[in-house]
Amino acid sequence: MVTLRALAFALLAALVIPASAADDGADCLGCHTASADAPVHAVFQTVHGGLNGGGNGSCLSCHGDSAEHAADPTTHMPGVSFGPLWLSPTGERNGACTACHTGGTTMHWSNSDHQQEGLACDSCHNSHQHQDPALTPAGSQRMCLDCHSRVQAEMLLPSRHPIAEGKTSCGDCHNPHGSLAEANLRQPTVTDNCLQCHQEKRGPFLWEHPPAAEDCSLCHRPHGAVHERLLITRAPALCQQCHVAAFHPSVPYGSEGLAGAGRNQNILGKNCLNCHSQVHGSNHPSGARLTR
Ligand code: HEC
Ligand code: HEC
Ligand code: HEC
Ligand code: HEC
Ligand code: HEC
Ligand code: HEC
Ligand code: HEC
Ligand code: HEC
Ligand code: HEC
Ligand code: HEC
Repeated sequence: MVTLRALAFALLAALVIPASAADDGADCLGCHTASADAPVHAVFQTVHGGLNGGGNGSCLSCHGDSAEHAADPTTHMPGVSFGPLWLSPTGERNGACTACHTGGTTMHWSNSDHQQEGLACDSCHNSHQHQDPALTPAGSQRMCLDCHSRVQAEMLLPSRHPIAEGKTSCGDCHNPHGSLAEANLRQPTVTDNCLQCHQEKRGPFLWEHPPAAEDCSLCHRPHGAVHERLLITRAPALCQQCHVAAFHPSVPYGSEGLAGAGRNQNILGKNCLNCHSQVHGSNHPSGARLTR
């Protein structure tokens, strides 16, 4: 399967690279020798080393037609440079990669948040390393957090997803190349994302709690929270956002809730969850009130 895909890519590459460029005799490796430019040669330890017939052909598949550079390297830069932006602006350098990578997880790159913010493929990817750091969990997380410092702060809150511990990673939930969902999620909605790992919260339940079926983020934060269990706020306040007048009073701190003033046992000093423990829904025959 992989070989078939690689073959398809190679064919595609043969089409997108003008024949004149592929055999213009440019001897990149004549000057960029292994001893003079060892880091450059690491590309041959990656899947890209064999592109376009390998050898010089591989160089051309990303750096484009570079005949002028090969003839006079001091006055002409290669067709596509991944150095300073004034040599090759973002669109140009991304075009070199998207000549081949338009499908799979890069399908929604165009118009994604990162594309619109002017990120380049090489802002995250390094093509001249045996192991592209973006493809390792630790390496990719570091680069995400370099830019997303607010998420880094959220990861340190008292309740948090075990992202720093490596049990979940940014890439489990987000596609850095963009997606059709909000926040570049890999799943169509926030709730689909959560259910990917927390399947026991997936209904249908005999007794549904509508907000849990509708949107997990009505009560939970995704990265980290001040309140336990990643909650946006603590019960009873959490519940009282929606339940103002229930079977029993739901406002615990009113005068009716004070000692000696006909206090309501259901409320005073108690968390709604002490009784309504099945807040995600219940399958118990008498769980209509989510108490069991
Ligand atoms: C005649 C020797 C020579 C040949 C042939 C040659 N290069 Fe270079 N290349 C150089 C030198 C010297 C530099 C450094 C230029 C500088 O920094 O001013 C360089 C720099 C580069 C750079 C880094 C510059 C940048 O900012 O992007 C790339 C990429 C590059 N060459 C690619 C190629 C490719 C691809 C080929 C084959 C088509 C090639 N070179 C052929 C001598 C050569
Ligand atoms: C998959 C695309 C790709 C291929 C294939 C490729 N390069 Fe590059 N090259 C890049 C990118 C991206 C950079 C920017 C730095 C990086 O990502 O490592 C770069 C940087 C360079 C540099 C500058 C290095 C520096 O440290 O400043 C040189 C020189 C270079 N490439 C030469 C070559 C030569 C010669 C070949 C063929 C052996 C080649 N490249 C093949 C994508 C590629
Ligand atoms: C001429 C076609 C071609 C070009 C140009 C190209 N790639 Fe690739 N790339 C491939 C093929 C083929 C594979 C292997 C099949 C796959 O994983 O999709 C690949 C794989 C990759 C992978 C996965 C590597 C791995 O080890 O699994 C990354 C990341 C990648 N390319 C990034 C880039 C970036 C960034 C650029 C531009 C600097 C680029 N590619 C340019 C053809 C190309
Ligand atoms: C914001 C950082 C970032 C940018 C920008 C970015 N990538 Fe990636 N890319 C990643 C990460 C992280 C992965 C590993 C994905 C994973 O964990 O599944 C990846 C994986 C890949 C892969 C391997 C296939 C896969 O999804 O596992 C390819 C191919 C690729 N990227 C190509 C590109 C191309 C082409 C561009 C530019 C159009 C680009 N990337 C821009 C971060 C980035
Ligand atoms: C368990 C899944 C999950 C993981 C892991 C995760 N995220 Fe998120 N992230 C989400 C969800 C869900 C949203 C959307 C929240 C909403 O819209 O209610 C989001 C929103 C975002 C946003 C936009 C809104 C904001 O809060 O700023 C950014 C940026 C972001 N995440 C970056 C990251 C980075 C960087 C990492 C890794 C350090 C990461 N995320 C890890 C699920 C996750
Ligand atoms: C070079 C800086 C940079 C890097 C690296 C980077 N991002 Fe971003 N990212 C941005 C910018 C800028 C935006 C748009 C502004 C914003 O919403 O924060 C953005 C937007 C996002 C969004 C959408 C936010 C929303 O409001 O919907 C998500 C999700 C995201 N990035 C996740 C990631 C992940 C995951 C990684 C690592 C693979 C990553 N980013 C790496 C700069 C970066
Ligand atoms: C990629 C898998 C994954 C996804 C997606 C995911 N989680 Fe988690 N979640 C975990 C893991 C792993 C833990 C830690 C479990 C443990 O330590 O026993 C966890 C723990 C939790 C906890 C308990 C936290 C605590 O303080 O004990 C809550 C609440 C939670 N997740 C809610 C969500 C919500 C809401 C979403 C959707 C935005 C979501 N999760 C998406 C993997 C995931
Ligand atoms: C109405 C508010 C609310 C909604 C909506 C909600 N939760 Fe919760 N969730 C809670 C509360 C409250 C707790 C703490 C329960 C406890 O400590 O007994 C919790 C705890 C959790 C836990 C950790 C403890 C456990 O039971 O495993 C996970 C995981 C979780 N929720 C996932 C989800 C997912 C996934 C969704 C969406 C399908 C979701 N929640 C929707 C209120 C909610
Ligand atoms: C986002 C709004 C929202 C939040 C937050 C919320 N609920 Fe609900 N809850 C509802 C809705 C809507 C219903 C269905 C009401 C109906 O059918 O009349 C419901 C039903 C219930 C029921 C069953 C009542 C009945 O008449 O069947 C209980 C018990 C309940 N919620 C408890 C809680 C508790 C405890 C919390 C806090 C952990 C909470 N709710 C948070 C919206 C919410
Ligand atoms: C001491 C236990 C207890 C506590 C604490 C408690 N409840 Fe209840 N709740 C009940 C019982 C018992 C019922 C009624 C069950 C029945 O009639 O079947 C009920 C009923 C409800 C109903 C359904 C009302 C209706 O009109 O049908 C809602 C909504 C509700 N509670 C929300 C809350 C909220 C919000 C809190 C926290 C502010 C809370 N409860 C605290 C035990 C409790």
